[in-house]
Amino acid sequence: MSISQTPKHVWITGASSGLGAALANTYAAAGAQVALTARSRDRLDACAAALPTPGRGSVYAADVTERNELFKAINAIEKIAPIDLAILNAGTYTPTNLDEWSTESIRDLFEINFFSVTTSIELLLPYMRARRRGHIAVVASVAGDIGLPYAASYSASKAALNRICQSLRAELEREGIRISVINPGFVRTPLTSRNTFPMPFLIDANRAADIIRDKLSRGHFNIRFPWQMSVAMRLLAALPPSLTLLLTRRMLR
Ligand SMILES: NC(=O)c1ccc[n+]([C@@H]2O[C@H](COP(=O)([O-])OP(=O)(O)OC[C@H]3O[C@@H](n4cnc5c(N)ncnc54)[C@H](OP(=O)(O)O)[C@@H]3O)[C@@H](O)[C@H]2O)c1
Repeated sequence: MSISQTPKHVWITGASSGLGAALANTYAAAGAQVALTARSRDRLDACAAALPTPGRGSVYAADVTERNELFKAINAIEKIAPIDLAILNAGTYTPTNLDEWSTESIRDLFEINFFSVTTSIELLLPYMRARRRGHIAVVASVAGDIGLPYAASYSASKAALNRICQSLRAELEREGIRISVINPGFVRTPLTSRNTFPMPFLIDANRAADIIRDKLSRGHFNIRFPWQMSVAMRLLAALPPSLTLLLTRRMLR
């Protein structure tokens, strides 16, 4: 697949709601065959039926924290057609605070947000390396730019995703495989509908999906949007630590 061409076969995790469902829509509308994965088969079936071109969606229910389920899903999808683009989007946010600090819940979040990505890459690599092509896109977050109060595990998981993508980029490129990391700001989805704090520059999931498809098709490595949130987080990350502390103190509830 050359860059700027729509990939023929796209696998999307976390495709039963929010950003993943919107990505499935935008790729199906552009003519791709989309393979949808999440835990809830019912919601996946509903998303597949609601695609602008319903025949273009197929459902592979799996819990991304279960290696065997991912293994079966990827093998089944590859049997239909080679995966040109894998969008590793499944993820969650659980607030962390001092009163409920627990290694177990931090580990649970990392299983979904981080280790599901490393396992997916591990299982995709033999296929993509054998054909010396493929594109892996990992959904992280601008929340990985800086450790914000109450978001310790989420920020850490998303920062870690950025680092592994950066580490893998040159190695994969030599094998003909592309990797991108997607760092959205706030997107209107079921996940953010639970937030009780202000969400500056919030954008719609469909708009976010269109931006992602456009930038992936143009071969971007680090996809950050909306630009206002991207710039704000980069500035925060570049401040001297004492100034960052002044700002993060103001975020305490
Ligand atoms: N919304 C934002 O503002 C925002 C900003 C930056 C980054 N992101 C990232 O974007 C991604 C999508 O988030 P969203 O906002 O669209 O959230 P969402 O609406 O809650 O969707 C999350 C998706 O992940 C799936 N999922 C969760 N745990 C899973 C598991 N163990 N196995 C398989 N699938 C699982 C869910 O389906 P099931 O429950 O059916 O499994 C659902 O399809 C996440 O990685 C999130 O961190 C979101």
